[in-house]
Amino acid sequence: MSKLKKISPKTNTLYRGDNLEILKAMPENTFDVCYIDPPFFTQKNYKNIWGDKESVLDWESSRLDGFFDTRDFFEQHIKSGEKGLRAYLEWMRLRLAEIHRVLKPGGYFFCHLDYHAVHYIKIVLDDIYGYNNFVNQIIWKRVTNNKAQTEGSFAKMHDTILCFQKTPVNSKNFNKLYLKGDANKDAKNYPYTEEKTGRQYGSFDFTQKGQGPARKFNGKLLTPPSGKHWIWGQDEIDKGLRDGTIIFTKNGTPRVKRYLDEKKGNLIGDIWNDDLVQPIQANSKEKTGWPTQKPVALLQRIISACSNENGLILDCFAGCGTTMHAAHLLKRKWVGIDISPTAMKVNKKRLEEINAKVTIIDEKDLDLEIDKIRNSKKAA
Ligand SMILES: C[S@@+](CC[C@H](N)C(=O)[O-])C[C@H]1O[C@@H](n2cnc3c(N)ncnc32)[C@H](O)[C@@H]1O
Repeated sequence: MSKLKKISPKTNTLYRGDNLEILKAMPENTFDVCYIDPPFFTQKNYKNIWGDKESVLDWESSRLDGFFDTRDFFEQHIKSGEKGLRAYLEWMRLRLAEIHRVLKPGGYFFCHLDYHAVHYIKIVLDDIYGYNNFVNQIIWKRVTNNKAQTEGSFAKMHDTILCFQKTPVNSKNFNKLYLKGDANKDAKNYPYTEEKTGRQYGSFDFTQKGQGPARKFNGKLLTPPSGKHWIWGQDEIDKGLRDGTIIFTKNGTPRVKRYLDEKKGNLIGDIWNDDLVQPIQANSKEKTGWPTQKPVALLQRIISACSNENGLILDCFAGCGTTMHAAHLLKRKWVGIDISPTAMKVNKKRLEEINAKVTIIDEKDLDLEIDKIRNSKKAA
Protein backbone atom coordinates (compact mmCIF):
# COMPACT_ATOMS: atom_id res chain seq x y z
CA MET A 1 0.00 0.00 0.00
CA SER A 2 1.22 3.46 -0.81
CA LYS A 3 1.80 5.83 2.07
CA LEU A 4 0.29 8.61 -0.01
CA LYS A 5 -3.35 9.37 -0.34
CA LYS A 6 -4.87 8.19 -3.61
CA ILE A 7 -4.04 10.60 -6.40
CA SER A 8 -6.32 11.20 -9.28
CA PRO A 9 -3.61 12.30 -11.70
CA LYS A 10 -4.11 15.84 -12.85
CA THR A 11 -3.11 16.30 -16.46
CA ASN A 12 -0.27 18.60 -17.39
CA THR A 13 1.13 18.20 -13.91
CA LEU A 14 4.61 17.49 -12.65
CA TYR A 15 4.86 15.51 -9.43
CA ARG A 16 8.04 16.01 -7.40
CA GLY A 17 8.88 12.88 -5.46
CA ASP A 18 9.83 9.23 -5.55
CA ASN A 19 8.00 7.74 -8.51
CA LEU A 20 7.34 4.48 -6.68
CA GLU A 21 5.26 6.20 -4.03
CA ILE A 22 3.49 8.47 -6.47
CA LEU A 23 2.72 5.68 -8.95
CA LYS A 24 1.34 3.50 -6.16
CA ALA A 25 -1.11 6.23 -5.32
CA MET A 26 -2.38 6.52 -8.90
CA PRO A 27 -5.36 4.55 -10.20
CA GLU A 28 -4.90 1.59 -12.54
CA ASN A 29 -5.61 1.73 -16.30
CA THR A 30 -4.94 5.46 -16.63
CA PHE A 31 -2.23 6.17 -19.23
CA ASP A 32 -2.07 5.49 -22.97
CA VAL A 33 1.73 5.57 -23.18
CA CYS A 34 4.54 5.59 -20.67
CA TYR A 35 8.15 6.29 -21.64
CA ILE A 36 10.96 6.10 -19.10
CA ASP A 37 14.65 6.87 -19.28
CA PRO A 38 15.73 5.67 -15.84
CA PRO A 39 19.26 5.38 -14.45
CA PHE A 40 21.08 2.85 -16.67
CA PHE A 41 23.04 1.01 -14.01
CA THR A 42 26.26 2.51 -15.28
CA GLN A 43 27.56 2.17 -11.71
CA LYS A 44 29.03 5.63 -11.88
CA ASN A 45 26.12 8.01 -12.33
CA TYR A 46 24.33 7.52 -9.12
CA LYS A 47 25.91 10.09 -6.91
CA ASN A 48 24.49 13.49 -7.21
CA ILE A 49 25.12 14.10 -10.87
CA TRP A 50 22.12 16.36 -11.15
CA GLY A 51 23.40 18.85 -8.66
CA ASP A 52 20.85 18.46 -5.89
CA LYS A 53 20.79 15.92 -3.17
CA GLU A 54 17.25 14.65 -3.86
CA SER A 55 18.24 13.23 -7.23
CA VAL A 56 20.93 11.08 -5.71
CA LEU A 57 20.50 7.39 -6.19
CA ASP A 58 23.04 6.32 -3.68
CA TRP A 59 23.31 2.60 -3.11
CA GLU A 60 24.09 3.19 0.54
CA SER A 61 21.08 5.37 1.07
CA SER A 62 18.30 3.89 3.10
CA ARG A 63 16.01 6.75 2.17
CA LEU A 64 14.46 4.99 -0.80
CA ASP A 65 12.09 2.16 -0.13
CA GLY A 66 13.40 0.16 -3.06
CA PHE A 67 16.69 -0.07 -1.24
CA PHE A 68 15.07 -0.91 2.03
CA ASP A 69 13.30 -3.80 0.41
CA THR A 70 16.40 -4.96 -1.37
CA ARG A 71 19.11 -4.19 1.15
CA ASP A 72 19.94 -7.87 1.46
CA PHE A 73 20.31 -8.27 -2.24
CA PHE A 74 22.48 -5.22 -2.42
CA GLU A 75 24.75 -6.13 0.43
CA GLN A 76 25.15 -9.65 -0.87
CA HIS A 77 25.98 -8.54 -4.38
CA ILE A 78 28.24 -5.63 -3.65
CA LYS A 79 30.38 -8.16 -1.82
CA SER A 80 30.19 -10.62 -4.67
CA GLY A 81 31.52 -7.96 -7.08
CA GLU A 82 28.35 -7.53 -9.13
CA LYS A 83 28.01 -4.06 -7.68
CA GLY A 84 24.39 -4.20 -6.89
CA LEU A 85 22.90 -5.39 -10.19
CA ARG A 86 20.33 -7.46 -8.32
CA ALA A 87 19.47 -4.52 -6.11
CA TYR A 88 19.08 -2.32 -9.19
CA LEU A 89 16.83 -4.89 -10.85
CA GLU A 90 14.67 -5.17 -7.78
CA TRP A 91 14.51 -1.39 -7.46
CA MET A 92 13.42 -1.21 -11.09
CA ARG A 93 11.02 -4.16 -10.87
CA LEU A 94 8.92 -2.44 -8.24
CA ARG A 95 8.55 0.62 -10.43
CA LEU A 96 8.01 -1.35 -13.65
CA ALA A 97 5.18 -3.29 -12.04
CA GLU A 98 3.49 -0.04 -10.98
CA ILE A 99 3.87 1.43 -14.46
CA HIS A 100 2.21 -1.68 -15.89
CA ARG A 101 -0.66 -1.26 -13.43
CA VAL A 102 -1.31 2.38 -14.32
CA LEU A 103 -1.16 1.76 -18.10
CA LYS A 104 -4.48 1.36 -19.90
CA PRO A 105 -5.18 -2.07 -21.41
CA GLY A 106 -3.55 -1.97 -24.85
CA GLY A 107 -1.29 0.90 -23.69
CA TYR A 108 2.38 1.02 -24.70
CA PHE A 109 5.43 1.12 -22.46
CA PHE A 110 8.89 2.24 -23.62
CA CYS A 111 11.93 1.60 -21.44
CA HIS A 112 15.10 3.39 -22.55
CA LEU A 113 18.33 1.73 -21.40
CA ASP A 114 21.78 0.77 -22.61
CA TYR A 115 23.93 -2.33 -22.59
CA HIS A 116 24.57 -2.26 -18.84
CA ALA A 117 21.23 -3.70 -17.79
CA VAL A 118 18.86 -3.86 -20.75
CA HIS A 119 19.07 -7.64 -21.13
CA TYR A 120 18.20 -8.19 -17.50
CA ILE A 121 15.35 -5.67 -17.61
CA LYS A 122 13.95 -7.42 -20.71
CA ILE A 123 13.52 -10.54 -18.61
CA VAL A 124 11.88 -8.58 -15.79
CA LEU A 125 9.50 -6.99 -18.30
CA ASP A 126 8.70 -10.33 -19.95
CA ASP A 127 7.61 -11.45 -16.54
CA ILE A 128 5.40 -8.40 -15.96
CA TYR A 129 3.86 -7.98 -19.45
CA GLY A 130 4.12 -11.55 -20.74
CA TYR A 131 6.75 -12.69 -23.25
CA ASN A 132 4.27 -12.42 -26.12
CA ASN A 133 3.55 -8.77 -25.39
CA PHE A 134 7.07 -7.68 -26.27
CA VAL A 135 6.64 -5.31 -29.21
CA ASN A 136 10.06 -3.98 -30.22
CA GLN A 137 13.67 -3.57 -29.35
CA ILE A 138 14.47 -0.17 -30.80
CA ILE A 139 18.10 0.62 -31.45
CA TRP A 140 18.71 4.35 -31.14
CA LYS A 141 22.10 5.64 -32.28
CA ARG A 142 23.00 7.92 -29.41
CA VAL A 143 26.34 9.22 -30.69
CA THR A 144 27.09 10.81 -34.04
CA ASN A 145 30.60 9.44 -34.34
CA ASN A 146 32.45 6.41 -33.08
CA LYS A 147 34.52 8.15 -30.44
CA ALA A 148 32.64 6.04 -27.94
CA GLN A 149 35.34 3.45 -28.53
CA THR A 150 36.50 1.56 -25.53
CA GLU A 151 39.65 -0.50 -25.48
CA GLY A 152 39.22 -4.00 -26.85
CA SER A 153 35.64 -3.59 -28.07
CA PHE A 154 33.60 -2.17 -30.92
CA ALA A 155 32.43 1.38 -30.30
CA LYS A 156 29.35 1.40 -28.11
CA MET A 157 27.09 3.67 -30.10
CA HIS A 158 23.48 2.87 -29.31
CA ASP A 159 20.88 2.80 -26.58
CA THR A 160 18.11 0.24 -26.58
CA ILE A 161 14.46 1.15 -26.10
CA LEU A 162 12.32 -1.83 -25.16
CA CYS A 163 8.65 -1.58 -26.05
CA PHE A 164 5.87 -3.68 -24.52
CA GLN A 165 2.10 -3.52 -24.80
CA LYS A 166 -0.25 -4.19 -21.94
CA THR A 167 -2.77 -6.95 -22.58
CA PRO A 168 -5.05 -7.11 -24.49
CA VAL A 169 -2.69 -6.41 -27.39
CA ASN A 170 -4.41 -4.28 -29.98
CA SER A 171 -2.76 -3.25 -33.24
CA LYS A 172 -5.37 -0.49 -33.69
CA ASN A 173 -3.50 1.59 -31.12
CA PHE A 174 -0.42 1.78 -33.34
CA ASN A 175 -0.02 4.45 -36.02
CA LYS A 176 2.47 3.42 -38.73
CA LEU A 177 5.07 6.11 -39.35
CA TYR A 178 7.02 6.77 -42.52
CA LEU A 179 10.26 8.57 -43.30
CA LYS A 180 10.53 10.54 -46.52
CA GLY A 181 13.10 8.98 -48.84
CA ASP A 182 16.26 10.80 -49.75
CA ALA A 183 16.00 13.37 -52.54
CA ASN A 184 18.76 11.82 -54.69
CA LYS A 185 17.11 8.41 -54.62
CA ASP A 186 13.73 9.97 -55.41
CA ALA A 187 15.18 11.75 -58.45
CA LYS A 188 16.55 8.40 -59.65
CA ASN A 189 13.39 6.36 -58.98
CA TYR A 190 10.84 8.96 -60.18
CA PRO A 191 12.64 10.44 -63.21
CA TYR A 192 9.65 11.22 -65.48
CA THR A 193 7.32 14.23 -65.57
CA GLU A 194 3.74 13.83 -66.67
CA GLU A 195 3.09 16.31 -69.45
CA LYS A 196 -0.49 17.29 -68.57
CA THR A 197 -0.03 17.67 -64.82
CA GLY A 198 3.71 18.21 -64.27
CA ARG A 199 3.66 15.39 -61.70
CA GLN A 200 6.85 13.40 -61.22
CA TYR A 201 6.52 9.64 -61.62
CA GLY A 202 8.49 6.41 -61.85
CA SER A 203 7.96 3.14 -63.73
CA PHE A 204 8.14 0.10 -61.45
CA ASP A 205 8.34 -3.67 -61.91
CA PHE A 206 4.97 -5.37 -62.45
CA THR A 207 6.19 -8.80 -61.37
CA GLN A 208 7.13 -10.59 -58.20
CA LYS A 209 8.88 -13.87 -57.51
CA GLY A 210 6.62 -16.94 -57.72
CA GLN A 211 4.33 -18.62 -60.22
CA GLY A 212 1.20 -17.06 -61.68
CA PRO A 213 -1.17 -17.22 -64.65
CA ALA A 214 -1.11 -15.22 -67.87
CA ARG A 215 -3.37 -12.12 -67.78
CA LYS A 216 -5.10 -10.04 -70.41
CA PHE A 217 -3.69 -6.57 -71.10
CA ASN A 218 -5.84 -4.60 -73.58
CA GLY A 219 -7.15 -7.89 -74.97
CA LYS A 220 -3.67 -9.43 -75.35
CA LEU A 221 -2.79 -12.44 -73.16
CA LEU A 222 0.65 -11.91 -71.58
CA THR A 223 2.53 -14.65 -69.73
CA PRO A 224 4.75 -13.46 -66.84
CA PRO A 225 8.50 -14.17 -67.16
CA SER A 226 9.66 -17.56 -65.87
CA GLY A 227 9.64 -17.79 -62.02
CA LYS A 228 7.54 -14.60 -61.71
CA HIS A 229 3.88 -13.63 -61.48
CA TRP A 230 2.00 -10.41 -62.31
CA ILE A 231 1.50 -8.45 -59.09
CA TRP A 232 -2.21 -7.75 -59.71
CA GLY A 233 -5.21 -9.93 -60.51
CA GLN A 234 -7.31 -9.41 -63.68
CA ASP A 235 -9.81 -6.94 -62.13
CA GLU A 236 -7.05 -4.67 -60.83
CA ILE A 237 -5.24 -4.91 -64.17
CA ASP A 238 -8.40 -3.82 -66.02
CA LYS A 239 -8.79 -0.90 -63.62
CA GLY A 240 -5.09 0.04 -63.91
CA LEU A 241 -5.38 0.07 -67.71
CA ARG A 242 -8.44 2.32 -67.50
CA ASP A 243 -6.93 4.82 -65.05
CA GLY A 244 -3.43 4.81 -66.56
CA THR A 245 -1.53 3.30 -63.62
CA ILE A 246 -0.29 0.50 -65.91
CA ILE A 247 2.11 1.70 -68.59
CA PHE A 248 4.17 -0.27 -71.15
CA THR A 249 7.82 -0.25 -72.13
CA LYS A 250 8.79 0.08 -75.82
CA ASN A 251 8.77 -3.71 -76.13
CA GLY A 252 5.33 -4.05 -74.55
CA THR A 253 6.22 -5.10 -70.97
CA PRO A 254 3.69 -3.82 -68.42
CA ARG A 255 4.99 -1.59 -65.61
CA VAL A 256 3.31 0.20 -62.69
CA LYS A 257 3.24 3.99 -62.79
CA ARG A 258 3.70 5.57 -59.34
CA TYR A 259 3.69 9.27 -58.53
CA LEU A 260 6.30 10.76 -56.23
CA ASP A 261 3.70 12.95 -54.49
CA GLU A 262 1.77 9.81 -53.45
CA LYS A 263 4.82 8.14 -51.97
CA LYS A 264 4.38 7.67 -48.23
CA GLY A 265 8.07 7.14 -47.61
CA ASN A 266 9.73 4.22 -45.97
CA LEU A 267 8.06 2.56 -43.04
CA ILE A 268 10.06 3.35 -39.91
CA GLY A 269 11.74 0.23 -38.60
CA ASP A 270 13.36 -0.55 -35.27
CA ILE A 271 16.78 0.94 -36.06
CA TRP A 272 16.68 4.68 -35.46
CA ASN A 273 19.81 6.25 -36.86
CA ASP A 274 18.28 8.84 -39.17
CA ASP A 275 19.02 12.55 -38.97
CA LEU A 276 15.61 13.36 -37.47
CA VAL A 277 16.43 11.70 -34.15
CA GLN A 278 20.04 12.79 -33.77
CA PRO A 279 21.28 13.06 -30.20
CA ILE A 280 21.40 16.50 -28.59
CA GLN A 281 24.40 18.40 -29.97
CA ALA A 282 26.42 21.09 -28.20
CA ASN A 283 24.64 23.70 -30.32
CA SER A 284 21.14 22.12 -30.32
CA LYS A 285 18.45 24.76 -29.83
CA GLU A 286 16.55 22.49 -27.45
CA LYS A 287 19.56 21.90 -25.19
CA THR A 288 18.70 22.59 -21.54
CA GLY A 289 22.01 21.59 -19.96
CA TRP A 290 20.51 18.48 -18.35
CA PRO A 291 23.24 15.84 -18.75
CA THR A 292 20.98 13.00 -19.90
CA GLN A 293 18.59 15.01 -22.08
CA LYS A 294 17.07 13.11 -25.00
CA PRO A 295 15.99 14.78 -28.27
CA VAL A 296 12.37 15.88 -28.47
CA ALA A 297 12.05 14.27 -31.94
CA LEU A 298 12.78 10.87 -30.41
CA LEU A 299 9.83 11.28 -28.05
CA GLN A 300 7.63 12.71 -30.80
CA ARG A 301 8.21 9.53 -32.80
CA ILE A 302 7.28 7.31 -29.86
CA ILE A 303 4.25 9.32 -28.83
CA SER A 304 2.83 9.81 -32.32
CA ALA A 305 3.16 6.09 -33.10
CA CYS A 306 1.34 4.90 -30.00
CA SER A 307 -1.23 7.55 -29.11
CA ASN A 308 -3.66 10.01 -30.64
CA GLU A 309 -4.58 13.61 -29.84
CA ASN A 310 -5.70 14.04 -26.20
CA GLY A 311 -4.08 10.72 -25.23
CA LEU A 312 -2.50 10.72 -21.78
CA ILE A 313 1.29 10.29 -21.62
CA LEU A 314 3.38 9.47 -18.55
CA ASP A 315 7.09 9.88 -17.90
CA CYS A 316 7.97 9.00 -14.31
CA PHE A 317 11.72 9.66 -14.74
CA ALA A 318 10.97 13.02 -16.29
CA GLY A 319 14.42 14.68 -16.17
CA CYS A 320 14.37 18.00 -17.98
CA GLY A 321 10.97 17.33 -19.55
CA THR A 322 11.59 15.98 -23.05
CA THR A 323 8.53 13.71 -22.97
CA MET A 324 6.26 16.48 -21.73
CA HIS A 325 7.63 18.83 -24.39
CA ALA A 326 6.93 16.31 -27.18
CA ALA A 327 3.49 15.46 -25.77
CA HIS A 328 2.52 19.13 -25.64
CA LEU A 329 3.64 19.72 -29.26
CA LEU A 330 1.55 16.73 -30.33
CA LYS A 331 -1.55 17.91 -28.40
CA ARG A 332 -1.43 15.05 -25.92
CA LYS A 333 -2.01 15.41 -22.19
CA TRP A 334 0.85 14.50 -19.91
CA VAL A 335 1.96 13.72 -16.38
CA GLY A 336 5.61 13.88 -15.30
CA ILE A 337 7.26 12.62 -12.12
CA ASP A 338 10.80 13.28 -10.97
CA ILE A 339 12.49 13.13 -7.62
CA SER A 340 14.67 16.14 -8.32
CA PRO A 341 13.55 19.69 -7.44
CA THR A 342 15.94 20.97 -10.10
CA ALA A 343 14.15 18.83 -12.69
CA MET A 344 10.90 20.56 -11.70
CA LYS A 345 12.39 24.00 -12.31
CA VAL A 346 13.96 23.07 -15.64
CA ASN A 347 10.76 21.35 -16.78
CA LYS A 348 8.53 24.25 -15.85
CA LYS A 349 10.69 26.83 -17.62
CA ARG A 350 10.97 24.65 -20.71
CA LEU A 351 7.25 23.92 -20.91
CA GLU A 352 6.19 27.49 -20.28
CA GLU A 353 8.45 28.56 -23.14
CA ILE A 354 6.20 26.52 -25.46
CA ASN A 355 3.07 27.97 -23.80
CA ALA A 356 2.14 24.89 -21.80
CA LYS A 357 0.38 25.42 -18.48
CA VAL A 358 2.22 23.55 -15.75
CA THR A 359 1.20 22.59 -12.23
CA ILE A 360 3.80 21.25 -9.82
CA ILE A 361 2.79 19.10 -6.87
CA ASP A 362 5.30 17.95 -4.26
CA GLU A 363 4.90 14.56 -2.59
CA LYS A 364 5.26 16.38 0.71
CA ASP A 365 2.03 18.23 -0.06
CA LEU A 366 0.25 15.00 -0.89
CA ASP A 367 0.81 13.44 2.50
CA LEU A 368 3.14 14.77 5.14
CA GLU A 369 3.33 11.32 6.71
CA ILE A 370 5.71 10.10 4.05
CA ASP A 371 8.83 11.59 5.58
CA LYS A 372 7.89 10.40 9.04
CA ILE A 373 7.59 6.86 7.73
CA ARG A 374 10.95 7.09 5.99
CA ASN A 375 12.64 8.56 9.02
CA SER A 376 11.25 5.85 11.26
CA LYS A 377 12.57 3.21 8.84
CA LYS A 378 15.94 4.92 8.85
CA ALA A 379 16.07 4.87 12.61
CA ALA A 380 15.06 1.18 12.78
C1 LIG B 1 18.15 9.87 -17.31
S1 LIG B 1 17.25 11.09 -16.51
C2 LIG B 1 15.88 11.36 -17.58
C3 LIG B 1 16.19 12.30 -18.69
C4 LIG B 1 15.00 12.63 -19.55
N1 LIG B 1 14.64 11.55 -20.41
C5 LIG B 1 15.25 13.87 -20.37
O1 LIG B 1 15.29 13.82 -21.62
O2 LIG B 1 15.44 14.91 -19.77
C6 LIG B 1 16.59 10.18 -15.15
C7 LIG B 1 15.77 11.00 -14.19
O3 LIG B 1 15.20 10.10 -13.25
C8 LIG B 1 15.06 10.81 -12.02
N2 LIG B 1 14.87 9.82 -10.97
C9 LIG B 1 15.76 8.94 -10.47
N3 LIG B 1 15.21 8.20 -9.50
C10 LIG B 1 13.94 8.61 -9.38
C11 LIG B 1 12.85 8.21 -8.55
N4 LIG B 1 12.97 7.24 -7.65
N5 LIG B 1 11.67 8.85 -8.70
C12 LIG B 1 11.52 9.84 -9.62
N6 LIG B 1 12.52 10.25 -10.43
C13 LIG B 1 13.71 9.64 -10.33
C14 LIG B 1 16.34 11.62 -11.91
O4 LIG B 1 16.19 12.71 -11.03
C15 LIG B 1 16.56 12.03 -13.37
O5 LIG B 1 16.03 13.30 -13.62
